[in-house]
Amino acid sequence: MPLRFIHCSDIHLLDLAGTSPTRFLNKRLTGGVNLLLNRRRKHDPDLFRRIVEKAHQHQADRLVVTGDLTNLALESEFEHVREHLDKAGLPVTVIPGNHDAYTRGSARERRFEQYMAHLMEGEREPGHDYPFVQRHGDTALVGVSTAIPSLPLYAVGRVGDEQLARLGRALARLGDEGLARVVLIHHPVLPGVAKPRHELLDLDAFGRVIAEHGAELVLHGHEHKRIEGHLLGPGDRPVPVHGVGSGTYLSQKPGKHGAYAFYTVDPGGVTREYHRWDGSDFVPDPSTPPSTPPSTPAAHTAQPR
Ligand SMILES: [Fe+2]
Ligand SMILES: [Fe+2]
Repeated sequence: MPLRFIHCSDIHLLDLAGTSPTRFLNKRLTGGVNLLLNRRRKHDPDLFRRIVEKAHQHQADRLVVTGDLTNLALESEFEHVREHLDKAGLPVTVIPGNHDAYTRGSARERRFEQYMAHLMEGEREPGHDYPFVQRHGDTALVGVSTAIPSLPLYAVGRVGDEQLARLGRALARLGDEGLARVVLIHHPVLPGVAKPRHELLDLDAFGRVIAEHGAELVLHGHEHKRIEGHLLGPGDRPVPVHGVGSGTYLSQKPGKHGAYAFYTVDPGGVTREYHRWDGSDFVPDPSTPPSTPPSTPAAHTAQPR
């Protein structure tokens, strides 16, 4: 059975009701306040509600959100986001983005993991949150974290050598089993596509893991725009890499629309329908190819054991 899921990202849900201004005193005061004012102007949380509606219309099995669920990683934000996700009416998978570890305190407390553990259930190496593996029929979702606190004006991410090693082991094992492997990661993994100071610091090392072990699809967010490309897997087989626009962004600039993508994945291939916000509804995006060629039939050459 293929896995049919909605991919969205960077919903940055905002609810400051009940948030005391004193919460900002030990944070980057100016940056935090500016960021929230900016978000309020450019993002509409109601678009996320519309995406959930669309997920039901598509009869999707699952909703996948690749990070930046919040803005400042405040407890009140996580409570607000969790409430929205828990009432979505379909299973949800999440991974964190840089905004979900916005402060050192939030990262130290593992605040994202505390609030979102039930949406990241799966197989993992003992003592480590990431990567986690969720098996859904012949497809495996592999959740990676790049979320680290950054200096002001930076939004960088890092997987880290140890997590990369665990990711390599997971991809190898799942590949041997013949599963379609979908890697979920917040930051772009294609060279040169992230804005300066927004990049994945160990992007090359991530590429080497994919080159060695392969994957059938890599999905990310972070740049709030549609990004298309591929990495090379074993035997130089292309591994499609898709970045989706922010789920709640009101922009009507080409490629930067609010967006979600509807995927059907199994070991025989990947099909995608990209939908963008046109100001009043999410509509199919004619500028986006409807599907990626099933360039990876049976996905990998390894035989199931
Ligand atoms: Fe974001
Ligand atoms: Fe981000």
